[in-house]
This record gives sequence, structure tokens and C-alpha cells, in this order.
Amino acid sequence: MRSLSLILLSVAGLAPSQINLTSCSSTDLACIENRTRVDQALIELPNFVTYPIQDDPFYTTPANISGATPGQILKVERQCNVSAYDIPPGQALSRIMYASVDNFGNIVPATAAILWPFTPKSFNGSSDYPLIAWAHGTTGIDRQCAVSNIRNLQYDFRSVFTLANMGYAVVLADYVGLGSDNFFNYLAYKLHANDVVYSVVAAQSAFLQLSKEWVSFGHSEGGGVAWAVGERQATDPIPGFLGTIAAAPPPFQLDNTSPVDSSVFTAFLSFTISHLYGLNLSAIFKPVPLQALQLVQSIGGCNDAGYAAFATFNASEIYSNTSWPMSQPAIDFVNDYAVSGRPLGGPMLILQGSADTVVGTEGSAAGFNATCAVSGNTSVEYVSVVDMDHNPSLYASQRLWLAWIEDRFNHVPLQDGCRTSNLSSAFAGNVQLAERFEVGYTKPWITIFSSTFLPSYLWASDLGFAQGLS
Ligand SMILES: *[C@@H]1O[C@H](CO)[C@@H](O)[C@H](O)[C@H]1NC(C)=O
Ligand SMILES: *[C@@H]1O[C@H](CO)[C@@H](O)[C@H](O)[C@H]1NC(C)=O
Ligand SMILES: *[C@@H]1O[C@H](CO)[C@@H](O)[C@H](O)[C@H]1NC(C)=O
Ligand SMILES: *[C@@H]1O[C@H](CO)[C@@H](O)[C@H](O)[C@H]1NC(C)=O
Ligand SMILES: *[C@@H]1O[C@H](CO)[C@@H](O)[C@H](O)[C@H]1NC(C)=O
Ligand SMILES: *[C@@H]1O[C@H](CO)[C@@H](O)[C@H](O)[C@H]1NC(C)=O
Ligand SMILES: *[C@@H]1O[C@H](CO)[C@@H](O)[C@H](O)[C@H]1NC(C)=O
Ligand SMILES: *[C@@H]1O[C@H](CO)[C@@H](O)[C@H](O)[C@H]1NC(C)=O
Ligand SMILES: *[C@@H]1O[C@H](CO)[C@@H](O)[C@H](O)[C@H]1NC(C)=O
Ligand SMILES: *[C@@H]1O[C@H](CO)[C@@H](O)[C@H](O)[C@H]1NC(C)=O
Ligand SMILES: *[C@@H]1O[C@H](CO)[C@@H](O)[C@H](O)[C@H]1NC(C)=O
Repeated sequence: MRSLSLILLSVAGLAPSQINLTSCSSTDLACIENRTRVDQALIELPNFVTYPIQDDPFYTTPANISGATPGQILKVERQCNVSAYDIPPGQALSRIMYASVDNFGNIVPATAAILWPFTPKSFNGSSDYPLIAWAHGTTGIDRQCAVSNIRNLQYDFRSVFTLANMGYAVVLADYVGLGSDNFFNYLAYKLHANDVVYSVVAAQSAFLQLSKEWVSFGHSEGGGVAWAVGERQATDPIPGFLGTIAAAPPPFQLDNTSPVDSSVFTAFLSFTISHLYGLNLSAIFKPVPLQALQLVQSIGGCNDAGYAAFATFNASEIYSNTSWPMSQPAIDFVNDYAVSGRPLGGPMLILQGSADTVVGTEGSAAGFNATCAVSGNTSVEYVSVVDMDHNPSLYASQRLWLAWIEDRFNHVPLQDGCRTSNLSSAFAGNVQLAERFEVGYTKPWITIFSSTFLPSYLWASDLGFAQGLS
């Protein structure tokens, strides 16, 4: 905690707009470290429930975990102290730790939050709390970046607060390695899908008032996870699955045919590929950017700290070998961990902003085509949310996804097979495009990307995922 006060002291009086990311050279580690720590102190630390997360014993792995079975509850905190969170009035929060499985099939600890509505939405006269399994987008790659440890649960009114206000209980899996003391395999969708599915099993066993039927829903990284949940339900189902919503999904984590981009998300991904397939980080990174990213992790930095470390550098400044996406480890990762092209265990709705500057539109369209080639009569719907960017598309399509979820719980039949549609406004050209409003906490840059809150000198930075096919 001492280091936190020192950081806060040293940046007192600075506003986020005063951080000028253009002012470091890519070989000046001291300068990068300074701006990364300043960014973390101003933008990330105020949004954490506990920093460092190790100070909260809830996230400590129990000694006897190896005897657990997947989905088994390891810890239950029935009623969190909500004054540490920025959740809406009337909502309550629980946290669970439970067993999931990793890429070797080993038992690993996972954590999740459960957001409770004031009163549940009733389906067919039931008093159960209808359950949504939320799959979150990128928060970072350090365990500090657990969504259950973020005051607004990362997505606030973009999704989870809205769902709970409508009467749904939302289980938010942190994904193994975020929260829990394990390596986080960023963008390894099928592993996160294990965590989401077992969060449902664990939550239902600890809270009998949760409905037996459930819908999964995710955005961005979580859109890929929600897709993987649909695929998992075809081969290894758990009961009660009604369908999945993949919003702004990048089915293909990396384009294996082109040189690397400058996105910090791609740099985050290289750590996973190194962990799972032995990609040699020292052989692809320049020394200072690699040290900068390792620093981000060592100080519990998340998306914004990573962004501050890298944002102004181009790929040739970050990497000594910009061809690394064409390397065998990168190809193997995408082959094993991309989604699409497999049957689904239930219906899927894909929501994609047509003006998505973060994940693009090509990946989800290609993934939709690949899934449709094998999904038979399963309902797969692709809705293009016209003119909307990565996060704004969730607001613009809110009426649609709420209706889709309600219909699934009401067992309303869906049209068989694949179809596409455009969701557009009669006011096209004059609708609000950015998230301009402030909520009662500091909005991360990533959240407000492309909004008017982002200083204009940051707009040019490429945060994009690869759009292409592997
Ligand atoms: C650290 O960053 C802050 C904010 O950008 C700046 O005002 C300060 O001069 C920097 N300090 C050093 C030692 O670079
Ligand atoms: C940021 O720093 C760069 C280089 O020092 C300078 O050219 C630019 O004008 C600064 N931008 C702002 C918004 O202060
Ligand atoms: C671990 O130990 C606790 C306390 O004795 C017990 O309640 C729990 O069931 C054990 N868990 C496993 C997975 O064996
Ligand atoms: C909840 O947290 C607040 C703020 O940290 C604290 O003042 C309060 O005493 C806590 N309540 C309980 C019941 O622990
Ligand atoms: C509603 O509940 C009744 C009685 O349990 C059941 O027979 C019926 O299938 C349910 N309808 C739906 C749509 O779930
Ligand atoms: C990784 O790359 C570095 C730099 O090229 C090299 O020195 C090192 O031997 C490599 N490590 C392995 C395990 O191949
Ligand atoms: C990357 O930035 C460096 C330093 O500003 C510059 O010399 C180089 O031309 C840039 N490379 C590309 C591909 O833009
Ligand atoms: C860069 O990586 C590519 C893909 O692994 C490899 O083929 C190439 O030899 C590497 N270049 C150098 C200079 O190491
Ligand atoms: C998907 O399939 C449609 C219809 O065959 C085609 O027009 C479109 O180009 C495909 N999109 C991608 C990205 O492959
Ligand atoms: C798909 O639906 C059609 C029309 O309802 C039906 O004839 C066909 O058997 C179905 N195919 C499969 C694979 O279920
Ligand atoms: C959606 O809009 C695009 C761009 O105007 C158009 O090319 C496409 O045909 C439309 N799709 C549908 C299903 O109407």
C-alpha cells in the first residue's frame, strides 16, 4: 500500500488530459515507466476495489483445491460490502471462487461476481432469478484486472447494470488468471468458456434461487468467449443453455498472414502464445518495450497502463521481428483457439457495429460464414448495428438484445438457420456516436475510445484486433 500512496502523492494535481503520451521515446524506459505509473494512478487505481488484489484473501487459492471437481464451489461471499462498488441503487453483489479447468485439463481456481437485481424478472410465474452468464472484454492480463475487483464491473450500463435493472441475475466470470493466482491465457476463448460455464454450475449450486436456464452474453474478447460457449455446448453441454450473444467478437485473435500491428492487445496476446506455444518474447520484442510490458504486469497495470506504455509507438519501435504473427507458435495458437467453423449447442446472435474501430467487421463476418457452413438448422443471426463503434453498438442494440434474451427465457421459437440484418436509425447521420456522459467514476481510456473525452492526440493510436482470416 505504501507504493500506492507514493504514486498518488507524486501525481497530485494532474488531470488525465495532462498526460501527454507522445512525449516518450521508445528506448527511454524511465520516461515510459513514469507515464505508465501516472496513468495507472489517475485512471486505474481509483476504479479498483482492492489494490493490490493480493491484499484481499478472497482471491487466495485454497490449499485443498486439487481435490475439487469442475464447477465445485470453493468460497462463497454471499453479500459483498457494496459501498466498495459503484453498482446502481437497489442492486446487490456476491462473489464466488470455484474450480475450473486449464489447457492441460488440470483443476484451477476461478472467481466470479454475481450481480443481483432488486427484484427478479418473472418468467412463466417462476420466482427464480433468471440467469445471464456475462463474458467480459479485455481488461488487461494481470490478476489485478479481475472484473469482480473493478468498481463498475467494467461494463456498467453498457450491459451488466442494465441486465440487472431489467431483473436478471448476472454471473460475471473473471476468467482464470484474472483474480485467481494463475497465468492468464488472454484470448484463449475455449479456456474462458470453461470458466463461464463452470461459473454457471457453481453459482447455481450456491444460490438455489438462480434459474436452471441461462443465456450467455459477451462483448469484444467476451464476444469470442460467448461464441466458444455456444461451441462448447455442442460437444460438452451443461443443462439449461438457451443461447448465446456474441457482441463485437474477434473470432480470429491474430492475422497469421500479415506483419504485426502496434496494438497493445496484440502485445498482450504474445504473452499467451509464449506461455502456451513457446513463442520467444526476447526474440520478437525490442528490449525496452518488453521491459515496459513486464513492468505493467509487475505493478498490476491493466488496459490503460498497457496503453500508456505503448500507445505512441509503431510496430517497428515495439518489435525486433514484426513478422512474428507468421511464426509457427502464432499459427498454432490461432488454429487451436479461434472460434467459428464448429456446430453450436444452441442459437447465437452476433451483434456487430458496422463502424467498429477496435475489432473491425471482417472477422465476425468471416466467422459467421464459417459457422453457418456447419451449423445446420441452428439459428445464427448476424445483426450489423449501422454506423456504431465498438462500445456504442451495445447501447444502440440494447432493445434488440433484451428482447432476444426475454424470448429465449419464454421459449419463443426462432427461425431456423442463418440470416443477416441491418439495425439502423431513421436519424442516420445525426445520431450520437460517442459515449459522452460521465458516470460517478473515472472512465478508462479504453472505455471511452473514440469518445470526445479522449484527448485528440490519442485518437490516431491503433487499438485494433486483426480483422483478417488465419
Ligand atoms: C512524469 O510524468 C508527468 C506527467 O506526464 C510529468 O509531469 C513529469 O514531468 C514526469 N516526470 C518525469 C521524471 O519524467
Ligand atoms: C505532446 O508532446 C509532444 C512532444 O513533446 C508535443 O509535440 C505535443 O504538442 C504535445 N501535445 C499536447 C496536447 O500537449
Ligand atoms: C477444502 O477444505 C474445506 C474446509 O475443510 C472444505 O469445506 C472443502 O470442502 C474442501 N474442498 C475440497 C475441494 O476438498
Ligand atoms: C463497508 O465498507 C465501508 C467503506 O469501506 C465501511 O465504512 C463499512 O463499515 C463497511 N461495512 C461493513 C458492514 O463492513
Ligand atoms: C410454464 O410452466 C408450466 C407449468 O410448470 C409448464 O408446463 C410450461 O411448459 C411452462 N412454459 C414455458 C414456456 O416454459
Ligand atoms: C530467445 O531469443 C533470445 C534472443 O534472440 C536468445 O538469446 C535466446 O537464446 C532465445 N531463447 C530460447 C529459449 O530459444
Ligand atoms: C516508426 O517510428 C520511427 C520513429 O518515429 C520511424 O523512424 C519509423 O519510420 C516508423 N516506422 C513506420 C513503419 O512507420
Ligand atoms: C521473424 O519471424 C519470422 C516468423 O517466425 C521468421 O520466419 C523470421 O526468420 C524471423 N526473422 C528474424 C530476422 O529472425
Ligand atoms: C460471407 O458470405 C457472404 C455470402 O456468401 C459473402 O458475400 C461475404 O463476402 C462473406 N464474408 C466474408 C468476410 O467472408
Ligand atoms: C432442418 O429443418 C428442415 C425443415 O424443418 C428439416 O426438414 C430438416 O430435417 C432439418 N435438418 C436437420 C439437420 O435437422
Ligand atoms: C445492410 O447494409 C449494407 C450496406 O448498406 C448492405 O450492403 C447490405 O445488403 C444490407 N444487408 C441487409 C441484410 O439488408
